[in-house]
Amino acid sequence: MKILMVCLGNICRSPLAEGILRNQAENKGLKLTVDSAGTASYHIGEPPHKDSIRVAGEHGIDITGLRARQFKAEDFDSFDRIYVMDTSNYSDVIRLANNENQRNKVRLILNEIHPGKDESVPDPWYGGYDGYIQVFDLLNTACNNLLEQLPAKSSTI
Ligand code: 4NP
Repeated sequence: MKILMVCLGNICRSPLAEGILRNQAENKGLKLTVDSAGTASYHIGEPPHKDSIRVAGEHGIDITGLRARQFKAEDFDSFDRIYVMDTSNYSDVIRLANNENQRNKVRLILNEIHPGKDESVPDPWYGGYDGYIQVFDLLNTACNNLLEQLPAKSSTI
């Protein structure tokens, strides 16, 4: 099973989501491939935002080695599921899809907490550290729910 986390810049929310899901999968002994990307090109090659690094570190998760990259159409072939952080990311990713199979891979991550509500993970970029704590807590719950609901065999191969 291969999962891609997507936000706008790939420096605040999606690298946190990547680190959290990888950490949870390892703790549960599940074999998952996890990656992240941004819909925009602004921050390509940069490490995660210092506050994403900080909040992850406070939970024992090291995301310092991650580097931002841009989402590309080939990602539809490389990943089984593509989790987007907000409705704007959803539109941007769906626009690059070529068929129904690709569109079906794209999901709003907060629907793992409140199914069908189409809620967005708030962008912490413009605020202070509290926003990063809030985003961590949301993503931690969403990733936990996501792992609980994976088909049993998909994460053991
Ligand atoms: P992210 O946050 O999408 O969670 O990585 C942002 C990072 C950078 C910008 C916007 C959002 N920016 O405008 O540069």
